[in-house]
Amino acid sequence: MSQERWTAVDHYITDLFVPSDPVLDATLQSSVEAGLPDYQVAPNEGKLLMLLAQIHGARAILEIGTLGGYSTIWLARALPEGGHLITLESDANHAQVARANIAQAGFADKVDVRFGKALETLPQLLEEGHSSFDFIFIDADKPSNPEYLQWALKLSHPGSLIICDNVIRDGTVIDANNSDPSVQGIRYFNELLAAEPRLSATTIQTVGSKGYDGFALAFVLGE
Ligand code: SAH
Ligand code: DHB
Ligand code: MG
Repeated sequence: MSQERWTAVDHYITDLFVPSDPVLDATLQSSVEAGLPDYQVAPNEGKLLMLLAQIHGARAILEIGTLGGYSTIWLARALPEGGHLITLESDANHAQVARANIAQAGFADKVDVRFGKALETLPQLLEEGHSSFDFIFIDADKPSNPEYLQWALKLSHPGSLIICDNVIRDGTVIDANNSDPSVQGIRYFNELLAAEPRLSATTIQTVGSKGYDGFALAFVLGE
């Protein structure tokens, strides 16, 4: 099996389940034009995020890692009337592009793009009383994943859902001696996730247009 085949099958899936979407197409185009990296989730993954948030009935969503707002817009589509989403981004250019894309998508009133390093903006959220997110999507710098998991626990409640992107990274995650800080961050994150008594979690490997990767899904239990 090759990348070419995975990409072709992703196109097949996307043509069936995520047909023409002018809002998201415009988001991707403006992201390319602004020189953003091609790190956003694939269309079928974006729709999965939306479906998970809808199934969960999420009213308050936190995203760590905005980029151009692609996954943000998918998640915002899941919000009911009165729902809100806060997304954290440390790159000023990414945050600016995302704000424009989110406004263009009609979610300026529901989505708050917070500029700054997440490890600095997360404590601010807690201070402001945002301690009860229903759904948290972790998708920023991978070395910080273990700390993001601890923050996700602080900012959620029993019944919340935590999703983390890019937890397989071409399978390098099984190399205990890999010196890449991202691989080490993901390995430690996975170990914390597995050992945390307040969470029930699993991980799914994926292939597709974005290569070979995977995501983790965790349900926050009661004390
Ligand atoms: N969730 C997006 C993709 C995010 S890519 C989507 O699927 O559409 C990862 C993003 O995290 C990048 O925009 C990067 O600038 C941002 N990032 C990296 N380090 C960060 C940090 N310390 N705090 C907040 N954001 C960070
Ligand atoms: C990277 C980050 C992502 O969120 C992603 O989906 C792919 C790659 C990265 O920083 O390399
Ligand atoms: Mg990602």
